[in-house]
Amino acid sequence: MVQLSTSVCLLGGLFGLLLLVPVLMALTPASMCTPLKTLNDSLSHRRRYMKHNFPINYTIRVHQKEVFKLSNINRMRLHVEGLDELVLQRLWFQVNQGVLKKIIRVMPERHPSRPYTAELERRFRDAEGVFVQSHPAEVFHRELPETIQDIWDHLTEEPDRVPESSWRFATPKFLLDNFCHTMHCLFSECFASTKAQQDYCGVSHWRKGRKKDLQPES
Ligand SMILES: *[C@@H]1O[C@H](CO)[C@@H](O)[C@H](O)[C@H]1NC(C)=O
Ligand SMILES: *[C@@H]1O[C@H](CO)[C@@H](O)[C@H](O)[C@H]1NC(C)=O
Repeated sequence: MVQLSTSVCLLGGLFGLLLLVPVLMALTPASMCTPLKTLNDSLSHRRRYMKHNFPINYTIRVHQKEVFKLSNINRMRLHVEGLDELVLQRLWFQVNQGVLKKIIRVMPERHPSRPYTAELERRFRDAEGVFVQSHPAEVFHRELPETIQDIWDHLTEEPDRVPESSWRFATPKFLLDNFCHTMHCLFSECFASTKAQQDYCGVSHWRKGRKKDLQPES
């Protein structure tokens, strides 16, 4: 009798685990790949629209947490307990939504890069829509690890409540480079090449002969 109930419990537990696994692993759903690849196509023109159409060394003011680089992701993966990929992906959407908004805000109506940026934002929204749809609603209400919640709170702070020391200046091109590199890292299943496994999260992967695009100030 005791044995029976134990095994029923075990079975129940196992079944519960099986149900949880897809959510916990948070692999990128295949449906995400189409909008992300479309976004990637737009991003491939970023040098032209985010560099050549702006004055040399032109920077915009963003929150320090919006300078979201591969090294930030790698550091969080090492140091934040209970961090899963889905949380990082949510953070990526939150960060880059703010970045796009700030880039658009500095561009006058007739700026030559405006249509490009508007389309980029539309494509980003499409990807976000698919992202939200392809996960059960409750994962978006789950409690975040404390460090991540802190970052989240900073990102959503009213601009006039952000202390002076939290602002950074970065070129639009630099921000979009980070946008692109971190996208490949966090959604690598969509960008896996048929060749050798690429480490999109490795800083060295993106370093090949493009040292000049670093932001003037970090
Ligand atoms: C993403 O864009 C780059 C160009 O910036 C291109 O080389 C690469 O093939 C694209 N990847 C996918 C999966 O579309
Ligand atoms: C742009 O920034 C670079 C690196 O900080 C500097 O060497 C260069 O003189 C700057 N160019 C202009 C036109 O300000």
